[in-house]
Amino acid sequence: MMKVRSVVRGCGSYLPPKVVPNADLEGIVATSDEWIVQRTGIRNRHIAAEGETTSTLGLAAAKAALSDAGMTADDIDLIVCATSTPDHTFPSTATMIQAGLGMHHGAAFDVQAVCTGFVYAVAVADKFLASGSARRALVIGAETFSRLLDWTDRTTCVLFGDGAGAIVLEAQEGTGTSADRGVLTTQLRSDGRYRDKLYVDGGPGSTGTTGHLRMEGREVFRFAVGMVTDVVEAAFEATGTSAEELDWFVPHQANKRIIDASADKLGIAREKVVITVDRHGNTSAASIPLALDVASRDGRLKRGDLVMLEAIGGGFTWGSALIRW
Ligand code: ACO
Repeated sequence: MMKVRSVVRGCGSYLPPKVVPNADLEGIVATSDEWIVQRTGIRNRHIAAEGETTSTLGLAAAKAALSDAGMTADDIDLIVCATSTPDHTFPSTATMIQAGLGMHHGAAFDVQAVCTGFVYAVAVADKFLASGSARRALVIGAETFSRLLDWTDRTTCVLFGDGAGAIVLEAQEGTGTSADRGVLTTQLRSDGRYRDKLYVDGGPGSTGTTGHLRMEGREVFRFAVGMVTDVVEAAFEATGTSAEELDWFVPHQANKRIIDASADKLGIAREKVVITVDRHGNTSAASIPLALDVASRDGRLKRGDLVMLEAIGGGFTWGSALIRW
């Protein structure tokens, strides 16, 4: 049976030039390069400079993705931006990126699912394309988590970084089988009972301030592997595929130990796992499109490859997307 698929036409990313190695954090909080590398796998992160915002990072990533796709903003009729660190409470970061692209048509909006944001944004865009409401979508993950951090709290400030990534999706007829190119399935979950494990202690409706990120790291870790395997196995089941058929596993980059444990539990060979947490830190909704762009640029990710994306984030939210590249 014919089915409309959302096919990836291009990808791009942008990282602020300023690189902060673990050693630089030793002068800010009581930590060490050894502790950070051992517990998380993180060595460096990029931090936005004054004047750089989520929308400026997102705009640069969007331009790179359009160029990779050989398209211009005129070709796009939908922008979905995943972020939890918008420049302003409103207007949305997506509309700011739209303006930056000189695009005056179509629709643009943000999706907020914290670190699962990009997977949620892919799911939303895929449904717009599948229903015929849009033909070509820019899906962006952009964050400046450095602005949400309490730089006196060593349990959180060493973990995060800034950056943005984007993909261009285009509607294309497929056969309805897992051999099709494009988004084959998305699996989304959330459970708001866990809000206290990972949250920001401020907001316009509560404190009237931006607030700071708070996390019970050990508790998040405890839930993470189970949530990841739940949605990845659901994606295999929905498409009749398996871990052996996967070419690449591109997880949200929060912690190398969570990524390794999840891959091992799912039976995914370590050489199929794309890791960028060592150089980017946790860039929340930006981490997956940044990793996709790294793997695409270094030649690992090729057309026709079967790629599993997955993420967990505050809420809790979690989800997966299986894509044939
Ligand atoms: N440097 C040195 N020591 C530290 C640091 C630091 N930066 N941070 C904490 N410690 C200390 C703690 O105080 C504790 O000391 P104590 O034993 O004297 O009390 C010790 O190190 C161990 O702390 P734990 O919290 O038990 O360390 P753990 O091995 O669990 O690692 C970490 C902490 C890295 C945060 C881990 O729990 C983790 O990665 N959790 C998951 C986080 C995550 O994946 N978040 C994803 C979602 S992000 C999003 O949605 C925005």
